[in-house]
Amino acid sequence: MLRWGLLSTARINDRIIDAVGRSDRSTLVAVGSRAAERAKSYAAVRGIPMAFGSYGELIGSAEIDAIYLSLPNHLHAQWSIAALEAGKHVLCEKPLALTVAEVDRMTEAAQRAGRVLQEASAPRFHPQTADIASIIASGKLGRILLCQSAFEFTLPATKDIRLDPAIGGGALWDVGCYPVTFFQAVLDENPEVVYGQAFIGPSGVDLAFAGTMGYRSGASVQFTASMTTPIARSARIVGERGSLELDQPWLTNIGGQTSVRQWSMRASSGSGTFGDDPDQLELTKWDYGPSDVYLDELRGFEDIVLMGAPSPYPPSESRINTEVMIKLHESIRTGGPVRIGMGS
Ligand SMILES: NC(=O)c1ccc[n+]([C@@H]2O[C@H](COP(=O)([O-])OP(=O)(O)OC[C@H]3O[C@@H](n4cnc5c(N)ncnc54)[C@H](OP(=O)(O)O)[C@@H]3O)[C@@H](O)[C@H]2O)c1
Repeated sequence: MLRWGLLSTARINDRIIDAVGRSDRSTLVAVGSRAAERAKSYAAVRGIPMAFGSYGELIGSAEIDAIYLSLPNHLHAQWSIAALEAGKHVLCEKPLALTVAEVDRMTEAAQRAGRVLQEASAPRFHPQTADIASIIASGKLGRILLCQSAFEFTLPATKDIRLDPAIGGGALWDVGCYPVTFFQAVLDENPEVVYGQAFIGPSGVDLAFAGTMGYRSGASVQFTASMTTPIARSARIVGERGSLELDQPWLTNIGGQTSVRQWSMRASSGSGTFGDDPDQLELTKWDYGPSDVYLDELRGFEDIVLMGAPSPYPPSESRINTEVMIKLHESIRTGGPVRIGMGS
């Protein structure tokens, strides 16, 4: 049984509170806030037994085993390390950190403490992501060459942590991290070179971002991330013999349907599909049923902590993605392509 403490009163907490309420291996025991009154009223409304008026008191509590860390991005490293050093397991919201050096310090703290550090990138815990990776690895689609993806929405507020460049704001950090980690998982390869362009808003963050990631295998990913355009979520993966289209790659439509379409070249189409005859392709479609990706994430974390299961997304992979994200930001600033240090 994992006894959870929420580090902050963030809006996203409600997803995890709901998941914990539906798990028989987790229980929510506390919330911590910068303000004692806020912690108290937050706990009262949600029926949380303990409320702490500082983050330090929360992570110091002997009655907590795991921390759900939902602070603004610039505080992820500092408070993950403090929680790990206090002997807690940490499920830290995405992005894990804003520099590779921070990820390294967090990983070392987890190793020293013998505790689990996990980035809360929920789609990595859903079977859809693993299934797409298996289809690609099976070679059914042939060599993967073209990938496209989007995670876009309109931020309704003018005051939001996402609008502050000093605390890790911007569309790329906020939702661009989803395509970056998704393609790392499904292509099983890391980009060699990246390029990004952004529309910068008045507060100084990228409100709309378009990026390209190039791979040694010949694959190319183009993706968009936006906080200033209507809702769009998609991913398309195209190989020499077939393609996949995902309508919910990020699985954020809780309770909604999630479907994948696969087009494959028919054997009768021989070695090519020259012309416009749609019969040369065969369509297969499958559904995953109503999405509950935060419960998938919670169950995955419970398996890691309580049963020693391997993480589908360990900090070593978060580290690579952090570097990719930093290089994409560098490309926005320099206006040119940037090579990634670690290769594939
Ligand atoms: N996985 C997902 O689907 C998902 C979705 C949304 C967000 N997220 C991630 O979750 C984190 C929180 O996002 P959110 O939109 O839920 O945040 P939010 O509602 O703005 O809440 C952030 C919380 O952090 C605390 N805080 C500490 N220092 C702060 C500061 N300088 N400015 C503002 N708040 C501060 C506040 O709690 P107290 O005042 O109580 O201390 C505040 O309630 C981010 O890392 C984000 O990327 C993940």
